[in-house]
Amino acid sequence: MYISTVTLATLVIIPVLLKIFAPYFWEDVFYLKELVRILLTFVSRRKRRPLFLAVDRFIEQSALHPNRTFILFENKSYSYQDADKESNKIANALRSHACSQSGETVALFMRNEPTFMFTWLALAKLGCPVAFLNHNIRSKSLLHCFSCCDAKVLIAAVDLEDALTEIKTALEEKGVCVFIMTKECNTPQFISFTDKVESASDLPVCRSLRSQITFKSPAVYIYTSGTTGLPKAAMVSQTRLLAALAVLASNGVTAGDVIYLNLPLYHTAGFLIGFIGTIETGSSIVLRRKFSASQFWDECRKYNVTVIQYIGEVIRYLCNTPKKQNDKDHKVRLAIGNGLRTDVWRKFLNRFGNIQIREFYASTEGNVGFVNYIGKIGAIGRVNLFHKTLFPYALIKYDTERDEPMRNAKGLCIKAPKGETGLLVSKITDIAPFVGYANNQQQTEKKRLRNVFKNGDLYFNSGDLLRIDSENFIYFQDRVGDTFRWKGENVATTEVSDIVTMIDFVEEANVYGVQVPGHEGRIGMAAITITKGKELDCKNMFSHVASYLPAYAQPRFIRIQNCVEVTGTFKQMKKTLVEEGFNPTLVTDPLFFLDDKDKSYVPMTEDIFQAIVCGNIKL
Ligand SMILES: *[C@@H]1O[C@H](CO)[C@@H](O)[C@H](O)[C@H]1NC(C)=O
Ligand SMILES: *[C@@H]1O[C@H](CO)[C@@H](O)[C@H](O)[C@H]1NC(C)=O
Ligand SMILES: *[C@@H]1O[C@H](CO)[C@@H](O)[C@H](O)[C@H]1NC(C)=O
Repeated sequence: MYISTVTLATLVIIPVLLKIFAPYFWEDVFYLKELVRILLTFVSRRKRRPLFLAVDRFIEQSALHPNRTFILFENKSYSYQDADKESNKIANALRSHACSQSGETVALFMRNEPTFMFTWLALAKLGCPVAFLNHNIRSKSLLHCFSCCDAKVLIAAVDLEDALTEIKTALEEKGVCVFIMTKECNTPQFISFTDKVESASDLPVCRSLRSQITFKSPAVYIYTSGTTGLPKAAMVSQTRLLAALAVLASNGVTAGDVIYLNLPLYHTAGFLIGFIGTIETGSSIVLRRKFSASQFWDECRKYNVTVIQYIGEVIRYLCNTPKKQNDKDHKVRLAIGNGLRTDVWRKFLNRFGNIQIREFYASTEGNVGFVNYIGKIGAIGRVNLFHKTLFPYALIKYDTERDEPMRNAKGLCIKAPKGETGLLVSKITDIAPFVGYANNQQQTEKKRLRNVFKNGDLYFNSGDLLRIDSENFIYFQDRVGDTFRWKGENVATTEVSDIVTMIDFVEEANVYGVQVPGHEGRIGMAAITITKGKELDCKNMFSHVASYLPAYAQPRFIRIQNCVEVTGTFKQMKKTLVEEGFNPTLVTDPLFFLDDKDKSYVPMTEDIFQAIVCGNIKL
């Protein structure tokens, strides 16, 4: 009796104490358990001989559940078995017609369509690394990307044939074999491929074709969408691909789930998380050519979608669509992605119902990642000691003016204290390797940081500024270079744009710093788009900015654009805007200037410009 009372009391008291002193105790324990489970699966798979690769998991799934739906695309459905057979055909056709050997890199140039997935599966079965060319790029940039990865074979969709015709002379000089997914090819140098696939056998290719592969071998090359300079090809090894299998599963996705994939397959989110993640769970994918805000929810309802993938802008676009009665009528229970801002996060949950958000942090080439497994609004993850032991990382103090980590008298980096923003660096180890970019030693070296806490140590420089709060939640602050310094203060562009977009007539805001003759640093400027049916209210804009932002962070100039230019993954383009600055003779868009005396934004004129340049107007 006595014991049972004590037990009962303990059972009641411990959870209460935990709730007070360690409010996230069970979530942390559960996450730890997941980490251990992932690690054990990974280790046991790594031990299998012959080598067990990500593609072997697909083969396993299609043997186990041949009739289960794998891909739904534009009213057509493909089972796991269909995908298996189709990829066998492509593999066999390549074997009999390709000008290259198995094991050599092949470039893939396609939009989101099932053939993209089948072709990757085929090449993986043949043991060929695959370079995913971004289908938006053309001419010089396309040739640059293609050349990065030393491919001798290029497989392209027929709707992209014209882009290749533009560079056909260069391709010919390099002796590249170009296959076009069509039955008859218009360009004599290119080879039609669909006819060859159709007549090929659907029997599996021999596993020995993959025997030369090791876990360090490249599996795919993914081009990182830098906002400056030409894209770089990040090598994703077989180990990494094997690890990527766990991403959806570890977030509770199971075979019964239907995943809505509308992000480009040539990027990490679409390919590694959406596609490879689905192979592990054996779920179904609803594939879309591209994101459409207006059709998003209708399609989720039509296909009974349960899991969506996002990047921050996608959620912002969804929140900007006109409200509907049936906004909460859907089966979506989980959203996985990154880049979701606090304000949009709240708006999204209020409007579309109780959807679990799994915001994570990761980069294509980086060697550390976090996931916010608690659902704390605004956070990208949480410090977990076990995770930190496996992947030693730290936030170090960063000098945004000189664009480099601060160093002490001994030349070593300085840890940023809790609550303060610092640069994320992560130790390069065997389980957290950084392999770098294909054929780009210079860019690879730039991401390596030496002598961080000890002479001779080696870290990966993420280029991201993060902050850890007193409860151990991790917050994304900015990307290095996405901050500017004005009057001795650091201004985070995303922070300013979050404030500016709170105004109802501002649809989107792209914030950056511009140089002013005779001034140190850069002054804030915002390129904005106006919400449909509204117009710019200069006084209102001024009072909002003045009440929410310190003087140094207020955008001194506003530029009105019809649309905000973005990269393939919706990252805002700033380079040209920064270069054009606030000179009214260079900028054709309407320009406004924050006038302190008038307490309003006023139209920018040549006179104001000259007065600023001469120093007659004090900024
Ligand atoms: C899959 O479907 C085919 C044809 O409908 C059927 O013959 C086969 O038994 C099914 N396989 C399994 C494992 O359910
Ligand atoms: C899918 O089917 C619906 C109804 O059958 C049709 O209206 C629509 O155009 C089809 N979509 C495509 C992309 O074929
Ligand atoms: C979606 O679910 C409903 C109810 O469970 C079912 O009737 C319908 O057939 C499902 N639709 C699809 C495309 O699976």
